[in-house]
Formats: sequence, C-alpha cells, structure tokens
Amino acid sequence: MINEHHLIGLLLGAEEDWPQAFEAVLGMVGPITVDGVTHTMAAERLTIEPFDLTDPVRTPLVIDRLAYWYYHPREWLKKAALVNGTYLLNSPFTFQSMEKHSAYCAMLRLGLKVPKTVLVPYKNPVDNVRWAYTSSKYNKGFDLEAIAADLGYPLYMKPFDGGGWRGVSRINNADDLRRAYDASGEMLMHLQATVDYEVFARALSIGPETMVMDFRPDQPMHNRYHVSHGFLSARAGFETAAISRIVNAFFAWEFNSAEMLVAGDDVYPIDYANACPDVAVTSLHYYFPWAIKALVRWSVYCLVTGRKGTVDLHTERFFEIADDPSLSYEAKLDEYAELADQYFETDKYWAFCNEHLGHLDAAVLEWVRSDAFDHLLVRTVQGMYPPHEHDMFLAHFRGLTKAWADEQD
Ligand SMILES: Nc1ncnc2c1ncn2[C@@H]1O[C@H](COP(=O)(O)OP(=O)(O)O)[C@@H](O)[C@H]1O
Ligand SMILES: [Mg+2]
Repeated sequence: MINEHHLIGLLLGAEEDWPQAFEAVLGMVGPITVDGVTHTMAAERLTIEPFDLTDPVRTPLVIDRLAYWYYHPREWLKKAALVNGTYLLNSPFTFQSMEKHSAYCAMLRLGLKVPKTVLVPYKNPVDNVRWAYTSSKYNKGFDLEAIAADLGYPLYMKPFDGGGWRGVSRINNADDLRRAYDASGEMLMHLQATVDYEVFARALSIGPETMVMDFRPDQPMHNRYHVSHGFLSARAGFETAAISRIVNAFFAWEFNSAEMLVAGDDVYPIDYANACPDVAVTSLHYYFPWAIKALVRWSVYCLVTGRKGTVDLHTERFFEIADDPSLSYEAKLDEYAELADQYFETDKYWAFCNEHLGHLDAAVLEWVRSDAFDHLLVRTVQGMYPPHEHDMFLAHFRGLTKAWADEQD
C-alpha cells in the first residue's frame, strides 16, 4: 500500500472565519484511494520568512490571500510554482500582469459586452526626473470633457487596476469630472460608460464550480448577497456562469469573482479580476457552506489527480474563436465555455467528486448544524461588530445559514 500525504498551504491575511471552516471541512475528507495509492490531506498556515530560491516547499498546493498586495509572499509563490511545481490558487503571474485593464482588453477581444472604456493619462505623472522632458515633448493635450461627452453622463471614473471601490466615482456632469480627475493624482484612470442594469450578478467561481448571486452593491456588507433564485432569465443565467469560468480559464485564475451588470438577456462584465475574492461568512452567509465545500473539493481534486499549474495561457485558442466571423456571439460563448470546461476538466472533476467526495454534502450539513459552526459564527461576529450589534448580527447569520441547511434536506 502506498500512502501520499498532501499539505495545503494557506497564505492568509486578517481572515479567521473561512480558514477555520476550510480546515474543518478538509478534516471531513478522509483518506482517498485512487489506483492503489491512498491520499490524505491536511492544511497548514504558512509563515513569511526569508527563503533561498532553492529551498524545498512542503505544500504542493497553496491558497493565497496575500500576494495581491504583499510582495514578499508573492515572490515566494512564484518561486514555489517555477522551482517546485507548487499548485497555486491563484496564479500571481497573470494577476500581476493582467490587471483589470488587461482583463477588459482581453474580454473585449473575445467579443464580450465590456462597456465603452477610455484610459486617460495620469493627472499627476509619476515622480521621475526624466518625465518633464518626455511630457513636454510627447504628452499630447486632450479634451477630457469631450471624451466624457462622447461616453455620455453619468459615467464612471475608476482606477485601471481596480479593487475594493478605491477611487471609483460616478460622474454626473463636467464639474464632477474635473473634480474627480484632479483628485485622481497618481492613479491611472478609466472613464467608463454607465450600464443601466436591472440585476447586478456576482459570480464566484472556484475551479469548475460557479455560484451566480444576486448582489446589491448599495446595501451594507452583510446584506449585499441577496438570497434569491431565478433572478435571471435562463439565457442571462447561462451567460453569467459561463463568462465567470471563461475569464478564469483564459487567465488561469481558479478562485475569482466576476461582477456583471445584467439588463434583460444582455450581460455586461465590469469587474472580473479579483485575486482575493470575498468569502467571509459575514458576506456570503447562505452561500458560505457551498464556497468552502467547493474550495476543499477543488484543492483535493488538484492534489489527488496531480493536476499541474501553468504559466502558459495559450490565448490563441480563444482568439481563433473570437476572430471567426462565421460565429455569432452566442456560438462564441458556447465554444469559449467548451475551452473553459477543458481547462477545468469539468467532467472528470464531477466524476471524481461523485466517486470520492460523495459523503461531504452530508458531513458539511451536519457541521453547519453543529455547535462548532455556531462557535465560528459567534467568534466571527464578536470580532467584527461592536457589542451592542452582536445579537442582531448573530441572529441574521444564524438565520441565513439555517435557511441553507433546511433547504438541503
Ligand atoms: N460601467 C458601470 N456601470 C454601472 N455601474 C458601474 C460601472 N462601473 C462600476 N460601477 C459601479 O461601481 C462599483 C465599483 O466598480 P468596479 O469596477 O467594480 O470597481 P472595483 O474594482 O473597485 O470593485 C461597481 O460595483 C458598480 O456598482
Ligand atoms: Mg467591483
């Protein structure tokens, strides 16, 4: 009998809720025997420390929540991927080079309905002694108001690399425009046409699994993910789920959320490069057990099947479809979705889950109903809200997670 023990590295920021949930659910997986090899799994929280580029890496898979903003662990991840073949959720290679702007460009090329977007030069250029010469010689004057008028008011001004609503403003007129551009300073900004939407669909994709949720951006955090089913037409439902996975397959991102504005059957993707998607129980509540299960299932699948990470995107596969004039928008989406299923090995994944992880649904349900899960909720609420709000928020999250559990029976 051959045994293989796999350690999953967690590279964490300030979160405690989902990592504890992940550790608990991973503990329910148990040994998995495939082709005479018995696989066991455990998670380990990684520390940040100096490393030699040739140091061994003990964790063949890492779930990363730091690299987007903290460079030392980011560079460690890249070393681990390149030198040691470590599997990464997510790939910092493409998140670093393909920020929101590149993601817009790539999906535009694929024919997706990215709203009209213009990149304008810096208000205050980067501080570099050589810039004055370059600027006086090559920076072409431009008419900001004419660009805005062409896009039409209201419009959105937002940083080219996005993230957490930093620097995002809705511009109603030329005064707003001047003020926002002056305030943008050293941030590089897009101007983007407003989409008049009916539904804000937020799709969280983990490996081949996707949950499309009814998002209410004007609500406080605990109420943003509205629990509703059937809030999209069949066509828009298909497209939102497909686009989320297509984006991920294109960029080799495997744990990402995609924000799409939906009007009728039309789906307009506006923000889909989120290296560190929100999976807090206080945001996802009802959807939290699914998210943790999906993260465990995909991690286990990757480790047991020996799936390899890659830095080669092979974008030409997508562009061949994009550039085929005989294909309609719908036909292209179908073909991209096919590529996404190939990338994520969707059929093989579900067969694996059915064969080896079938017990997880019942185990997770029992756990969500247990005192251990309730303690997790209590600790999270106590750590997040002022004391006079604890009862209210605990009742809120208990109610929503219970609603999920009741629906599973
Ligand atoms: N083109 C648009 N049309 C309508 N609303 C938009 C548009 N772009 C952004 N928004 C609104 O602004 C919010 C923040 O913009 P987003 O592109 O998601 O930036 P961030 O990367 O900071 O999350 C969105 O969630 C949405 O509510
Ligand atoms: Mg966003």
